[in-house]
Amino acid sequence: MQASALNYDVLIIGGGFAGMSVALLLADSHISVGLLTKKSLEESASMMAQGGIAAALSPEDSPQRHAEDTLAAGAGLCKPEAVDLLVRHSKECIDWLTDYGVTFTSSDVRADTLPHLTREGGHTRRRVVHSEDATGAAIITTLESQIRAHAHIQSLEDRIVVDLITDESGTCLGAYVLDKPGSTVQTVSARVVVLATGGASKIYLYTTNPDTSTGDGIAMAWRAGCRVANMEFVQFHPTCLYHPHAKSVLISEAVRGEGGYLIRPDGSRFMHEHDERTELAPRDIVARAIDYEMKKGGYDCVYLDIRHKPATEILRAFPNIARNCEQFGIDITREPIPVVPAAHYTCGGIVTDLQGATDLSGLYAIGECAWTGVHGANRLASNSLLECNVFAAAAHDRILSDLERLPRADRSLPHWDESRVTDADEQIVVSHNWDELRRFMWDYVGIVRTNKRLERARHRVELLREEISEYYGNFKVTNDLIELRNLVQVAELTIVSAMSRKESRGLHFNKDYPDTLPDDQAADTILIPRCTP
Ligand code: SIN
Repeated sequence: MQASALNYDVLIIGGGFAGMSVALLLADSHISVGLLTKKSLEESASMMAQGGIAAALSPEDSPQRHAEDTLAAGAGLCKPEAVDLLVRHSKECIDWLTDYGVTFTSSDVRADTLPHLTREGGHTRRRVVHSEDATGAAIITTLESQIRAHAHIQSLEDRIVVDLITDESGTCLGAYVLDKPGSTVQTVSARVVVLATGGASKIYLYTTNPDTSTGDGIAMAWRAGCRVANMEFVQFHPTCLYHPHAKSVLISEAVRGEGGYLIRPDGSRFMHEHDERTELAPRDIVARAIDYEMKKGGYDCVYLDIRHKPATEILRAFPNIARNCEQFGIDITREPIPVVPAAHYTCGGIVTDLQGATDLSGLYAIGECAWTGVHGANRLASNSLLECNVFAAAAHDRILSDLERLPRADRSLPHWDESRVTDADEQIVVSHNWDELRRFMWDYVGIVRTNKRLERARHRVELLREEISEYYGNFKVTNDLIELRNLVQVAELTIVSAMSRKESRGLHFNKDYPDTLPDDQAADTILIPRCTP
């Protein structure tokens, strides 16, 4: 046993909006905070968020209506108390960000008081506060400078956590962290660890997410003994740019909110054939409709068409989307945008209470990696940035009281033992398995599932898990190996959850069980470590 190299009151793993929010809130109480990110603070899924933050600010709106829309999108599985917490604090979230200096696009009508509110699928009112079409970037760049300047926050960038450190009583004591490639694994101790690691959409071949969305927090928490819930509910965003050279280029739902149509290659609209809310139906319905049209017509993609709006209006509302598309030779004011659905958001995650507490003492989870029940079977658009901040604030209150009773983190923790492993001989094993996993998840556990496809996926994931676990046991850890091990774990949790749901609901559609059980029989899928895979 040796003394820990790094020691914090609170170690936050993940530097997106949830991690940054809780870091700033805690550090303002003079608590020592380590904020660990896999890449730099500017790289996260939050940074890429386009649409905005749902907040019932308009006189025609109310938190009650926002709650109703959230519950409707969630298809019978939202926890009303979590939804209530979310919608009640949306104005505080906007005020908190405004106080930090985030600028939101203002309304032409009441520029001084009311931000411009855009509309997205599933919202019955204009409700989405935004910063042009790059809301995440406006938030993250503003908070990043605050984090870097804060005396009580140490940023630990370009590091990845291998695993959490726990004791026999199930208390989390810190984490093993791999520093730069080729370096050794460090022991970081903390009185409280907060997982804010985001989602796991990289388990799929096509995703709107950055490369870092590998489900690390969910996999680590599961291995440490936490329950995980509702992993079958993977949200596919209906409109990701379809282009051979484009990787993860999202076309915001706000384009449909401001009047964009979905059309087939022959120019005909189709959403009215699928849902009376047409292009503004909730995401599960729109993504499934596109999947249906593509399969029926044999198309590679469908198109999102906003050409009927004046070019000045389009460019004012969507300057970044226009620039992104232009890079691929598409002028969105003159031609329709080729789009396909892609994995976007993990609605399931680590089971927590409304203050982010997990099953382990000293371990919290917030944001996309957590499951509070707020999103049910399908997340309402633009509720995710809001969730990051609201649940960070709720966790902050509880962590402060925890810190009063938990001992200081100056215990000696066992160091990482590399005595029985050697340098990896074949990196190809890792990259091959990574590709295989993401491809069969796309083919077998995608927007439309069947029992047979899920069986196939389960068989393959078990083989991969065994192979990767053997590799992990024999060779020194690397970034790619750590992420692959997590991806396989989360993919398996997703498949097992999908297989155990004997109905179709929200984002989970199984052709062999096309009906939805009555809402009084709706149940969450809760997986318990050591009982399930
Ligand atoms: C979008 O702009 O369409 C994404 C917003 C979200 O995922 O809530």
